[in-house]
Amino acid sequence: MNTGFEWKSYICKEAGQVSGVKKIAVMTSGGDAPGMNAAIRAVVRACAYYRVECKGVRLGYEGLIAGKLVPMGPRMVKNLIGRGGTILKTARSESFKTVAGRREAYEQLVQHGIDALIVIGGDGSFTGGVIFEKEYGIRVIGIPGTIDNDIYGTDQTIGYDTALNTVVAAIDKIRDTATSHNRLFFVEVMGRDAGFIAMNSGIGIGAQAILIPEENMALEALFSRLSRSHKSRKSSSIVVVAEGDQLGSAFDLAKAVKMRYPKYDIRVTVLGHIQRGGAPSCYDRVLASRLGVAAVEALLAGKTGLMVGIRHNAVVETPLDQAIKAHNPLDVELKKIADITAV
Ligand code: F6P
Repeated sequence: MNTGFEWKSYICKEAGQVSGVKKIAVMTSGGDAPGMNAAIRAVVRACAYYRVECKGVRLGYEGLIAGKLVPMGPRMVKNLIGRGGTILKTARSESFKTVAGRREAYEQLVQHGIDALIVIGGDGSFTGGVIFEKEYGIRVIGIPGTIDNDIYGTDQTIGYDTALNTVVAAIDKIRDTATSHNRLFFVEVMGRDAGFIAMNSGIGIGAQAILIPEENMALEALFSRLSRSHKSRKSSSIVVVAEGDQLGSAFDLAKAVKMRYPKYDIRVTVLGHIQRGGAPSCYDRVLASRLGVAAVEALLAGKTGLMVGIRHNAVVETPLDQAIKAHNPLDVELKKIADITAV
């Protein structure tokens, strides 16, 4: 007879359950990213599938310290896969950076009987997880969720593909008006420390120049690109600027170019937080689903201190402390493509 108990032991064996993990908490932390909800859903459903209890932590580490844990069941995440934002809400926590804050967080986990924590977020969130694991021996698995794509150990982070598509759709619209008026636009995109969004969206919309934090383009080089575009009678030019660019903000650059070329008709658009919102792309939904399930399976297999990511379309694990040390270098081939196609 197929009793609940027999099914449970079958399922645990299938997952390679050697850890004795019985109750997992999941949280989103740092800046939100489209697809975080899909990752929460996958974690909750995987917990249900493998008969492990699941709790959601509201408001990231801040909520953990305050004991904001809620039970999560598979029906509670219905119709969630396509929703932007995060139903668990998120925060950047200053208190969790303190010893006292982490002690409070640990006491909350003990009180709620949590064996392991899944953190969906970026490098700041993982840094907190690494320290927490070392201090209290709590099992932690990270799922990379940030639009910036600035995490080592994964080809893509959850939310990056959607953000790219949002940026491209927005700049395509800017192109229409730029061409109608023969204007030069500076468009600022997110990316405090990384130029992935700027570089890939820049190629995607045919930018005249792309400025990224990883590269120090001289102002003179920008001037000569723009004057080349002007001389070759391009009807519009778009410069994509990552917010962490070394030369300055889109407004600073527009001012410098206006001083050099007073006749240029220049406008600036800062896309801002529109890049973090919206329904996740199919790619992000699938990625989030794969990584959510992989995170639960890693915990059941007795693993900890890892980030689950994607490399060459296969799920891989990277030690959390490596994932936060650096991000993937920008592909030099992309830079070449951007230069050649802007001619
Ligand atoms: O980390 C993701 C990110 O979108 C960065 O690109 C950006 O600099 C930052 O978040 C903005 O954060 P906040 O919403 O806290 O201002």
